[in-house]
Amino acid sequence: MERIKEAIAKAREKQDGAFSGRENTTRKALKSAEVVEGPIVYKETRVVDLDPAHLEDHRIITMDTEDPNSISFDILRTQILAKMEANGWKTLAITSPTPACGKTVVAINLALSIAKQTDYTALLVDFDLRRPQVASYLGLPREYDLADYLDGKIELNDALVNPGVPRFVVLPNRRPVKNSTEILTSRKVKALVAELRDRYEKRICIFDLPPLKSTDDAIAFLPQADCVLMVVASGETKPGEVKDCRRQLQSSNLLGVVLNKSTEVAKTYYY
Ligand SMILES: Nc1ncnc2c1ncn2[C@@H]1O[C@H](COP(=O)(O)OP(=O)(O)O)[C@@H](O)[C@H]1O
Ligand SMILES: [Mg+2]
Repeated sequence: MERIKEAIAKAREKQDGAFSGRENTTRKALKSAEVVEGPIVYKETRVVDLDPAHLEDHRIITMDTEDPNSISFDILRTQILAKMEANGWKTLAITSPTPACGKTVVAINLALSIAKQTDYTALLVDFDLRRPQVASYLGLPREYDLADYLDGKIELNDALVNPGVPRFVVLPNRRPVKNSTEILTSRKVKALVAELRDRYEKRICIFDLPPLKSTDDAIAFLPQADCVLMVVASGETKPGEVKDCRRQLQSSNLLGVVLNKSTEVAKTYYY
């Protein structure tokens, strides 16, 4: 826990240093200020503080890069980035056969690992429109979000959040959205994905998707992602489900399968 606190404090120092010409400004005043994404300056991206205890409770471990468990994510991150770089891919979808395999936990840890350990910016989008959980796992306050943007109530910048870590930006959601399959294939979402992908050179977009076997959402959305990662749960996901899903993903660039929830120590995540 102490190490997570220190990691947050360090990230905060770096973050504060990134606000040019505002050296003595308090964090409160930084909310709704300019957030630097690499060489890019975001106008009006909200900055929020993360609570180490809350992160730990929700298995978000890559905030502390010295946590021994984060090694699994280092390996995963390195392998994913190598493949994405080699192919010029910038968007990664995360799905699974059934609910509760650990997609959201993997998506957040991977995004944080990219932001903290590489010179890429990680943008994490909660596209699990029926069961959004990114905001609650990160402990983000209730403010504007993706659903408000999709409803046309706010601009994109009003929905983006920087959770106090440099080069980490989240597009959260808090309430289930109706007609999610139609929305995920709508012109508005297509334009949003293109905008997020093309706006900055050194940015990896991670899309947390619903499971493949519950709804059409993931399969309908996948053509918009450059590549996909499948998360399966050790002892829960059946071999037949993995086989079915691999077949469903035939026309996608499947990067690999993460075996999550393994009981083997230090081998929690395979790639
Ligand atoms: N490696 C793991 N070991 C144990 N529990 C895990 C692991 N990864 C995720 N979980 C737990 O499993 C549950 C489902 O995880 P979540 O990421 O919400 O799944 P999904 O997004 O696939 O529905 C959560 O309670 C989460 O804390
Ligand atoms: Mg989830």
